[in-house]
Amino acid sequence: MAPTFSTISNSFAILILGLLISNQEAYGHGCYKSIISFGNSLADTGNLLHINPPDKPPKSGRWPYGITFFKRPTGRYSDGRLLVDFIAQSLGLPFLEPFIGSKNANASNRNFSKGVNFAVAGATALNQSFLEKYGVFNPLTNVSLGTQLDWFKEFFSTFCKTNPDCKTFLQTSLILVGEIGGNEYNYAFVQGTDIEVIESFVTAIISDISFTVQELIKLGASTVLVPGNLPTGCLPYYLSYYEDSDEKEYDRKTGCLNWLNGFSEHHNDLLQMELNRIRGLYPYATIIYGDYYNAAMRIYLSPNKFGFTSVLRACCGAGGPYNYNASAECSTPPATVCGDPSRYVSWDGIHFTEAAYRRIAQGLLEGPYTIPLIRTVCSSISRISGLSEY
Ligand SMILES: *[C@@H]1O[C@H](CO)[C@@H](O)[C@H](O)[C@H]1NC(C)=O
Ligand SMILES: *[C@@H]1O[C@H](CO)[C@@H](O)[C@H](O)[C@H]1NC(C)=O
Ligand SMILES: *[C@@H]1O[C@H](CO)[C@@H](O)[C@H](O)[C@H]1NC(C)=O
Ligand SMILES: *[C@@H]1O[C@H](CO)[C@@H](O)[C@H](O)[C@H]1NC(C)=O
Ligand SMILES: *[C@@H]1O[C@H](CO)[C@@H](O)[C@H](O)[C@H]1NC(C)=O
Repeated sequence: MAPTFSTISNSFAILILGLLISNQEAYGHGCYKSIISFGNSLADTGNLLHINPPDKPPKSGRWPYGITFFKRPTGRYSDGRLLVDFIAQSLGLPFLEPFIGSKNANASNRNFSKGVNFAVAGATALNQSFLEKYGVFNPLTNVSLGTQLDWFKEFFSTFCKTNPDCKTFLQTSLILVGEIGGNEYNYAFVQGTDIEVIESFVTAIISDISFTVQELIKLGASTVLVPGNLPTGCLPYYLSYYEDSDEKEYDRKTGCLNWLNGFSEHHNDLLQMELNRIRGLYPYATIIYGDYYNAAMRIYLSPNKFGFTSVLRACCGAGGPYNYNASAECSTPPATVCGDPSRYVSWDGIHFTEAAYRRIAQGLLEGPYTIPLIRTVCSSISRISGLSEY
């Protein structure tokens, strides 16, 4: 009996091995065949640029945005690549196409089979009517996470008409939902909204994010990465606005505003509790938390270790203690750009440099900053290029 059993189990093992190999081939070298992204300026690869009329481009459509990598403004709020671009490269995928096409492009030539990006700079999780009710004004866009989900549903139903395999497309996509929600805080704090009102946004934002994740899973998504908020107390934007804060308000090691970082951590704690809850509802889906907060915080804590010499001063700006002036932001005269953006963490006072995004991406993909560890979900992600091992 023993030989027979062993033969059966051998052929069973070969069958399993065969399935594993063909599965890996099907997924490409990075486990996922495509990326679908929702969010704001941290992930926008051109949507706001294409939404705005050509004679009124957003700042990201003007020089010196793109100075380091693309060598032209692409609509990305950075000097080069964003976190999503580094994730795409590590998965062996092309840079993400913005869903909103250029007005000059031939729409029928656009191909989203390797990914599609719905993120819009300035976008909020909460919708415009909700924010208006609390007197919060969005100066950049009326697009919310709900709008992006509607765009996705419209896209997906069209895509399914020409691609009978569209369920597989969704199943084999890495879907990024966020970071989103940071902007309503950014707007509300500097517009003087009561802190109690802003605190009440937290659960509303998380419920919108959760709703979106669940809708995507119901449509067939199997891997969703949901990032938390950044340590906003380290951004020149806030450090300048709250410039005359008491010395006690600052973290002595980093120079960041403690209470604002505490606010981000509070948001992130509640977000993770909600993700845990929905993991229970959809055990067959993989819901990954992206710990942007700590992936960025390790840079603020040891900048020299990562080659940064300027941490709280923006590379592109018009002066002031943090080189950020809300009335003369990057790309607006008299703002100027620093000599070596790769030494700066902050690009324009709100967004990171490509160098910082690259490090944050490394922290997520190679380091410990996702829950569960992304390497346990996908073992074949390539290392982030141009950096020593994590
Ligand atoms: C758009 O591209 C398609 C396919 O390449 C082509 O047939 C069509 O003529 C193009 N339309 C315009 C307006 O350029
Ligand atoms: C889209 O691109 C993929 C490869 O990137 C290709 O296999 C597919 O045929 C293209 N689809 C169309 C409609 O051109
Ligand atoms: C805006 O969000 C609120 C709260 O989630 C919801 O009740 C309302 O229907 C939404 N409005 C629109 C126009 O989507
Ligand atoms: C946003 O504004 C545009 C242009 O005014 C309008 O066409 C669109 O319907 C608005 N979208 C939402 C979600 O309010
Ligand atoms: C900010 O920029 C405006 C516009 O150029 C200028 O008038 C103002 O003095 C600047 N503020 C500071 C603190 O430099």
